[in-house]
Amino acid sequence: MGLKLIDIKKSFGVPATNVLKGISLDVNDGELVSIVGRSGSGKSTLLYIMSTLDNATSGNIFYDDKDLTTMSQKEIHEIRNTNIGFVFQFHYLLPELSVLENVLMPARKHGQHKRYETQAIELISEVDLKGKEDRMPSQLSGGEQQRVAIARALLMSPKYLFADEPTGNLDSVNGDRIMALFQKINLEKKTTVIYVTHDLDYANLAHRKIELVDGLNTKALNI
Ligand SMILES: Nc1ncnc2c1ncn2[C@@H]1O[C@H](COP(=O)(O)OP(=O)(O)OP(=O)(O)O)[C@@H](O)[C@H]1O
Ligand SMILES: [Mg+2]
Repeated sequence: MGLKLIDIKKSFGVPATNVLKGISLDVNDGELVSIVGRSGSGKSTLLYIMSTLDNATSGNIFYDDKDLTTMSQKEIHEIRNTNIGFVFQFHYLLPELSVLENVLMPARKHGQHKRYETQAIELISEVDLKGKEDRMPSQLSGGEQQRVAIARALLMSPKYLFADEPTGNLDSVNGDRIMALFQKINLEKKTTVIYVTHDLDYANLAHRKIELVDGLNTKALNI
C-alpha cells in the first residue's frame, strides 16, 4: 500500500510551459522520501499534485490503489482531511490565534476541536513547545512557529506528511530539529514523510532521494 504516480504531467499557461513531463514513482507506506532539484525544477508543483492540493494536467495518482482521477471532489476532500498533512515553506499560522488554537485548526473544520484538545497538547509537547500553548505566533521564533505548523499538520494523525522546504527559512540548529522531528514521526508513528529540500545533508537523511531534472525524475536514488 502507498502512493503511486504514473506519468504525471503538468503545464501552465498558454502557450504551455511544461513543468512536469512524465513523473512516475511509488512511495511505500512508512517511507521517508526527499525531493531535490534546482530552483524552478518543479519540486513544489510535484508536491502539491501528490498531496491533492493541485491537479495534474495528465497522469494518474493512486492512494492505496484508489485512482484520484476517478474520485469525486468529496472523496478527495475526505482523503485530504484525514490522510494528509501539509507543511508549507512559510508556516501560515493564523496570527490572531494562540499556538493551541492554531494546532486545533484542522479539527475545528469538522467542529471537533474539543475532542482533539488532549491530542493537540500532546503534539505541542512532542514538538518541544510544552508550556507555550497560549502564546501567540508573534511571540515565537521562526523555528518554533514552524514546529507549531508541524504539530498542526499532524493533528488528524495523517498517513502522509508533505513538507515544502520546511527548513528553508531556519538556521541550522532549528533546521536540524525539524529534520529530527520528521525522522521521529516517521519511525514512531510510521507516517510516510515526503519533503522538499535544497539542503543535501537533509536530503540524504531520507530513505530515498528523488531528483527532478528537466521535468523528470531521472534519478530515484536509494540512500
Ligand atoms: N501557477 C503557476 N503558473 C505559471 N507557472 C507556474 C505556476 N506555478 C509554478 N510555475 C512555474 O513552474 C516552474 C516550477 O515551479 P516550482 O514552484 O514547482 O519550482 P520549485 O522546484 O519548487 O522551485 P523553488 O526551489 O524555487 O521553490 C517554474 O518555472 C514556475 O515559474
Ligand atoms: Mg518550491
